Amino acid sequence: MFAYSALPVVLLALLHLSLSSVVATATATSYPDFQLLNVKQVLIGTKIPRPLEVSGVRENQGKWKMKLVHRDMLYSNATATFKDHGHRFHARMQRDVKRVASLLRRLSGGGDQDGAAAYEANDFGSEVVSGMDQGSGEYFVRIGVGSPPRSHYMVIDSGSDIVWVQCQPCSQCYKQSDPVFDPAESASYSGVSCSSSVCDRVENSGCNARQCGYEVMYGDGSYTKGTLALETLTFGRTVVKKVAIGCGHINRGMFTGAAGLLGIGGGSMSLIGQLGGQTGGAFSYCLVSRGTDASGSLVFGRGAMPVGAAWIPLLHNPRAPSYYYIGLSGLGVGGTQVPVPKDIFQLTELGYGGVVMDTGTAITRLPTMAYNALRDAFIAQTTNLPRTSGVSIFDTCYNVSGFVSIQVPTISFYFSNGPILTLPANNFLIPVGDVGTFCFAFSPSTSGLSIIGNIQQEGIQISFDGANGFVGFGPNVC
Ligand SMILES: *[C@@H]1O[C@H](CO)[C@@H](O)[C@H](O)[C@H]1NC(C)=O
Ligand SMILES: *[C@@H]1O[C@H](CO)[C@@H](O)[C@H](O)[C@H]1NC(C)=O
Repeated sequence: MFAYSALPVVLLALLHLSLSSVVATATATSYPDFQLLNVKQVLIGTKIPRPLEVSGVRENQGKWKMKLVHRDMLYSNATATFKDHGHRFHARMQRDVKRVASLLRRLSGGGDQDGAAAYEANDFGSEVVSGMDQGSGEYFVRIGVGSPPRSHYMVIDSGSDIVWVQCQPCSQCYKQSDPVFDPAESASYSGVSCSSSVCDRVENSGCNARQCGYEVMYGDGSYTKGTLALETLTFGRTVVKKVAIGCGHINRGMFTGAAGLLGIGGGSMSLIGQLGGQTGGAFSYCLVSRGTDASGSLVFGRGAMPVGAAWIPLLHNPRAPSYYYIGLSGLGVGGTQVPVPKDIFQLTELGYGGVVMDTGTAITRLPTMAYNALRDAFIAQTTNLPRTSGVSIFDTCYNVSGFVSIQVPTISFYFSNGPILTLPANNFLIPVGDVGTFCFAFSPSTSGLSIIGNIQQEGIQISFDGANGFVGFGPNVC
């Protein structure tokens, strides 16, 4: 069941392994293993944005579901190199390093005055500025924009608070896989005037011929700039009217292929914030991996909230309202907690440190001290596998050539309110570019910020209940 489905078939043949025999058996437990479902119905400092007047959600049993694809799938036909696992892996790690650098610039700075200053200069008070560095995005959904709906791939980003698409007339557009959206062909498009309250919500908005203008700059110099509009978006069979979107006439960046970005962050201008009352800030996703043909899902609405999930309080960081912070208290290896300072995962009163759930980061980052403790415990309990040299951002790798099955200790997250999430083995021991090399998929963070990356989230149903301030793990695998 813990098949390494991410391995290309060719690689499997070289390894003389069948899918079902590359087993990283969890020694302690099987997934999902949640203890103590301790749900307290209290609000933990979570801002509930007042919903905009988005109208016309045709509720489908209280939820609507979208297919979620990883970029490796989107590009698998496009570029030959992307068919190569090694190339894909290294490209992904490069994107990851940039994404994390950008998040650290925005969110860290604890004890580092330069960091704090840089944050203020670049980002303070800019609700629409995304933490998404490359803008390249890891996961995509296909949605309809306008009336009649035209289908577009959109990047989803849990750290962004705006929805935007490239728009005609295009002064400058990067290449996308579908024709660029043309407002002139949509009956439901309406511009937003400068005096509108919607315009007020976009903090670096401006006025251009009485139309509300917006601009989003990304860490690497990517940007989108254009006019704010209300438009109809179609998600499968669900039609949502009057969504405030950026209609980008000047765009640059690495959004390759996608028409734009669907921010699902915690702020009021993200899709989730705008849906507000209608979905109760509720959505759920399943990330499915790495070069497989399988797709994950993104489900909106209260009906998407599963029964039996382990619920963890969401924490709000006023310095970074877009991001979903959670309370983590410890880490475990093989069912035993590893020794880390008690407050190492704490989000401080000034908004430093803490633990962010991010769909745009691949590999979980931990403060160096916590990473070292976790890695050392993992190495100490993984005596049956030969080590090999580090690869990319990983310092703990194993040569599994010739192994038919491998056993590794479990890795667990201990959450502050009690639940323990034990990860499936292929969420922490992953094949890297080199044939037969698997690495321990965590990495140290140079700051106090921890980031739970998408490789650790893969295959686990993850649900956000924004209205009540909780994130749920499980109970389903996907
Ligand atoms: C890949 O190519 C096939 C046929 O060439 C096409 O039908 C399919 O839509 C493409 N997939 C993506 C994700 O673009
Ligand atoms: C892995 O081990 C195999 C033998 O089991 C050996 O042939 C190969 O060179 C090793 N690879 C690395 C990268 O050490």
